[in-house]
Amino acid sequence: MPVITNIQDLQRLHKRRTPKMFYDYCESGSWTEQTFRANSADFDRIRLRQRVAVDMTGRSTATQMIGQDVAMPAALAPVGLTGMQSADGEIKAARAAAKFGVPFTLSTMSICSIEDVAEASPAPFWFQLYTMKDLDFTTRLIERAKAAGCSALVITLDLQILGQRHQDLKNGLSAPPKFTLPVLADLATKWRWGMGMLGTKRRQFGNIVGHVDGISDTRSLGAWTAEQFDPRLDWDQVKRLMDLWGGKVILKGILDPEDAVKAADTGADAIVVSNHGGRQLDGAMSSIEALPAIVDAVGNRTEIWLDSGIRSGQDILKALALGAKATMIGRSWVYGLGAMGEAGVTRALEILHRELDMTMALCGRQKVTELGRDILLLPPDFG
Ligand code: FNR
Repeated sequence: MPVITNIQDLQRLHKRRTPKMFYDYCESGSWTEQTFRANSADFDRIRLRQRVAVDMTGRSTATQMIGQDVAMPAALAPVGLTGMQSADGEIKAARAAAKFGVPFTLSTMSICSIEDVAEASPAPFWFQLYTMKDLDFTTRLIERAKAAGCSALVITLDLQILGQRHQDLKNGLSAPPKFTLPVLADLATKWRWGMGMLGTKRRQFGNIVGHVDGISDTRSLGAWTAEQFDPRLDWDQVKRLMDLWGGKVILKGILDPEDAVKAADTGADAIVVSNHGGRQLDGAMSSIEALPAIVDAVGNRTEIWLDSGIRSGQDILKALALGAKATMIGRSWVYGLGAMGEAGVTRALEILHRELDMTMALCGRQKVTELGRDILLLPPDFG
């Protein structure tokens, strides 16, 4: 067992232990992966101002997200198919998040269903909604999330059609996997994963099976999405969905200041500056570079969060300093899950927390709520 000291260690272990098809699904960006790469590269272009002789005691990363107390400003972003990275993966992640004191978001495209997670999670979680052409089904999903006690609805706006990820097509991505010769050869070295899967019955999309036409062996995820997801989604429809839900709402997938203003106009409790981890519009700006203009346009009208490219506590700190109230993390927790199950998600959260806390101290600040642009040195062409 290698010594795990950073998120990249978890990523390497995830790659070694999880079937190639699912690791690639996690790691890929769309098309040429320009935006995927920019998400990390742009974080690296930002420098921090080191400050000295400042009292470092009494530090705290605790704050609130939409009125909810959190141990640090980082929620687990919704990630589809996580029950294929590790058996019952969504349950493991929900448990790790609840114990750590950060929110967990369950994807519409999860393997464990809303009800499975509600039964096993020690704390309420958030539900992420993709809107389907079948409005009855979308409504039923909202009703199921309410009945399960979900405490916020995350509506994802940037995936009405699926950005093409070449490797998923080449790998023949499906859940459960089709046992072709290359898949079987790959699985021969991944016995832990296989044992986990033998021990669970949750191997298909739990929220969808039995409700709308499932994703069968013969149809790719892309073809299924094109068939089922609603390409007509507009701001009026977003408002109708928000009314149907009637509780706290987070609008995710905003990258443009004009859209950010429209999203704030809906009365949403938070918006997430996100390019879906570089998985949708390749060639779009990185989230961190898009953030300052959105903060300037929206001001305090709603909470502004950021995701895409966060791989360290320093990245979280940079997003906060540029005006985000909080962040969502995607691949960083999935690497942990694929590497070591629930313990791996906890490890990822511990790593991010420690890095955030130490970086804050070395920048001469004591609280995450006190971070501003003055602790950063931005490159001249930034934003
Ligand atoms: C995602 N993301 C995502 N978002 C969403 O709203 N619903 C979903 O089902 C998924 N599924 C999904 C699968 C995988 C494998 C990844 C990597 C991402 C996007 C996710 O919520 C988040 O926006 C990004 O992951 C953030 O980027 P980083 O942190 O992964 O770089």
